Amino acid sequence: CKGMNGLEKVVLREVRGSSAEVYLYGGHITSWKNDHGEELLFVSSKAIFKPPKPIRGGIPICFPQFSNHGSLEQHGFARNRFWSIDTNPPPFPTNSSTKTFVDLILKPTEEDMKIWPHSFEFRLRVTLGPSGDLMLTSRIRNTNTDGKPFTFTFAYHTYFSVSDISEVRVEGLETLDYLDNLQNKQRFTEQGDAITFESEVDKIYLSTPTKIAILDHEKKRTFVIRKDGLPDAVVWNPWDKKARAMADFGDDEYKHMLCVEAAAVEKPITLKPVGSLILGESWAAENLICPFYHVQVPPT
Ligand code: BG6
Repeated sequence: CKGMNGLEKVVLREVRGSSAEVYLYGGHITSWKNDHGEELLFVSSKAIFKPPKPIRGGIPICFPQFSNHGSLEQHGFARNRFWSIDTNPPPFPTNSSTKTFVDLILKPTEEDMKIWPHSFEFRLRVTLGPSGDLMLTSRIRNTNTDGKPFTFTFAYHTYFSVSDISEVRVEGLETLDYLDNLQNKQRFTEQGDAITFESEVDKIYLSTPTKIAILDHEKKRTFVIRKDGLPDAVVWNPWDKKARAMADFGDDEYKHMLCVEAAAVEKPITLKPVGSLILGESWAAENLICPFYHVQVPPT
């Protein structure tokens, strides 16, 4: 159906009431609601749904470059291209008839190949699970006919909706090494306990565990991220000053969002072309996000 400014979107609905919306523009998830209709992703009230501007919030796909780690435009071009519905996807390992999903595909145009001279097929499956969980599966193939490999970095740039950033805690990243984007990408080691927030943060945690949790005390909600094929995790909140500098982001909205992005940044992925005798010609990455609600323990 039609979304903002007539842009096409696909709406997924689970029988128990959860839903998700995916724009073909960017292959971008702009909404994920639980059984009670509560929105779980953050999308800015100032988001601009107008190409070529990427949509501020939801889950942009960063490909073939994360951030400014290379010569392409910030976060690559997949987030501001028009994807198509993939009507004939090859079988996915996670295929299940009980699930609600949509398959999208992105292939480069001739113009894209002037910017990044590689032919590829990027298949994205967005699945809404029976318990309201959201799963993203990406599969990328190198379809270069000249036998050349290509190299990319990647992120699911997930904007979580949170009650109040100063009440939120991220678990699973403590004691890990990270690159600090606010300090020339220098490498540091995280000290101490779970991560909390009191100022701008823009870090790439390296070789992270497959499970990361975002605890929101006020909402009594925990998001559990389980990722596969994506060793790194980016944590970003622009805080007040950067928020004011962004035209498509409200001045106070930083209080109600947190990006935790399953990513492959430190070690770029190299993909050999299809038909090559060497294995590894298709790359896959999964990101499963489950919301859990804290049950109050009755007083004894
Ligand atoms: C994060 C980066 O992933 O995305 C930040 O680590 C960046 O450095 C942020 O500012 C937002 O990027 P953009 O291009 O959507 O404004």
